[in-house]
Amino acid sequence: MSDKREQFSSKFGFLLAAVGSAVGLGNFWGFPTQAASNGGGAFVLAYLVLAFLLAYPALMAELVIGRYARANVVTALEGVGQTVFSRRLGKAVGIYGVLTASLILSFYAIVSGWMIAHFGQPLAQVLSLHSVSHWLGQDGLLRNLLVALIFMGLTIWIVARGVQAGIEAWSTRLMPLLLAILLGLIIYVLLQPGAMAGLHTYLVPDFDQLTDPALLLSAMGQAFFSLSLGVGTLLIYGSYLSKKESLPRLGVAVTLLDVGIAFTAGLLIIPAMYVAQHHGVMIYGDDGSLIAGPRLIFQVLPSLFGSMGVAGVGLSLAFFALMTIAALTSSISMLEAPVSVIIERTRMQRSRAALVVGTAIFAISVLIVSNMNPLFDFIVSLTTKYSQPILGLALCVYAGWVMHRNQVLKELQTGHLGVEHSLFWKVWPFYVRFICPALILLTVGQSLRG
Ligand code: PHE
Repeated sequence: MSDKREQFSSKFGFLLAAVGSAVGLGNFWGFPTQAASNGGGAFVLAYLVLAFLLAYPALMAELVIGRYARANVVTALEGVGQTVFSRRLGKAVGIYGVLTASLILSFYAIVSGWMIAHFGQPLAQVLSLHSVSHWLGQDGLLRNLLVALIFMGLTIWIVARGVQAGIEAWSTRLMPLLLAILLGLIIYVLLQPGAMAGLHTYLVPDFDQLTDPALLLSAMGQAFFSLSLGVGTLLIYGSYLSKKESLPRLGVAVTLLDVGIAFTAGLLIIPAMYVAQHHGVMIYGDDGSLIAGPRLIFQVLPSLFGSMGVAGVGLSLAFFALMTIAALTSSISMLEAPVSVIIERTRMQRSRAALVVGTAIFAISVLIVSNMNPLFDFIVSLTTKYSQPILGLALCVYAGWVMHRNQVLKELQTGHLGVEHSLFWKVWPFYVRFICPALILLTVGQSLRG
């Protein structure tokens, strides 16, 4: 490894980058609708508990391994192994992780491209470029390829600039902007007729709905995706963190901010849906549940904006800028996972590695865009439903069983004096060894059966 390995310049740089990775499309379209259709405030509470009991320990496993090894996920997992078997397995898990990160990016770039298209559409309209605006609003192959290419180009450009000048600098610029747009939109939407009914559905707890174990398990899957777990992104960000900082505290901050922003996103999305309903837009699907996912983002909300005249144009620009920003700070972390492996294991230059890996991933995006029907859903479930939890399990096993307890404790003590007397150290080692692996196995088993 080179001795001038880059680092984040401060803990805030790390925090904004890690929260930027965590806060993405998952927060804006996964969480709010799941909450609204599954018991409202009760689901929000359950999610908070799950995030802390399960996702946080797994996140800590990644941070500890990353900062201890000061290396990319492949080298790190290979390095902590003490036997030939655990070293080889570690290497294989690392490769599986970066392949998963790359596949997630290949479909994420497509969806993020749609965000760019929906941002460009009202923009072109404001600039009186009516035919461009019309073209951007139409779901066509060429449009989808072009906007995904623009998104991937931005991602490659930021990652090519490096940890401080690229990832940290852009996360520090974009994340405050994201928060400002989000809060502005919430205030506006909550003042519209219909919004209060949405707030009611979102927040009033219905604990009866929480007894379904399948629901809790799907909330866990959502938490894993939302916290970017398992694919080596938090591991690599942890490896760029100074030894002066406390890992348990920063881990709590990342978890709280991710959950907090998911919750806040719900204050925008669900009331907006009810405002849309007030404007005559259908917000329930055929099965009687709230419309979620792509139809929510690309049909329900645009019909709302479309019915609001000039204000709608402004809202639509702000909303799709928000989504694009959220996606971009996540996609750079996905690309950094494989790029860091290439740079540290082959000595290829960063800018070149970013271009080569980014182009290869874009080639997969092209394949998916051209065969949307079988490929898109297949890759989404393969990566997020199965690979992410399995990888999370492997990382817990490496932090809990493969690394020595003393190595782990020493790494945690750096930057957090007295951690051995904290509640964290009383609970976490047990959690990461037994509880997390058992619960993850349960979820995966469940989704295999389903
Ligand atoms: N956490 C991101 C989101 O919520 C997705 C992500 C998954 C990012 C895996 C990095 C790695 O959209």
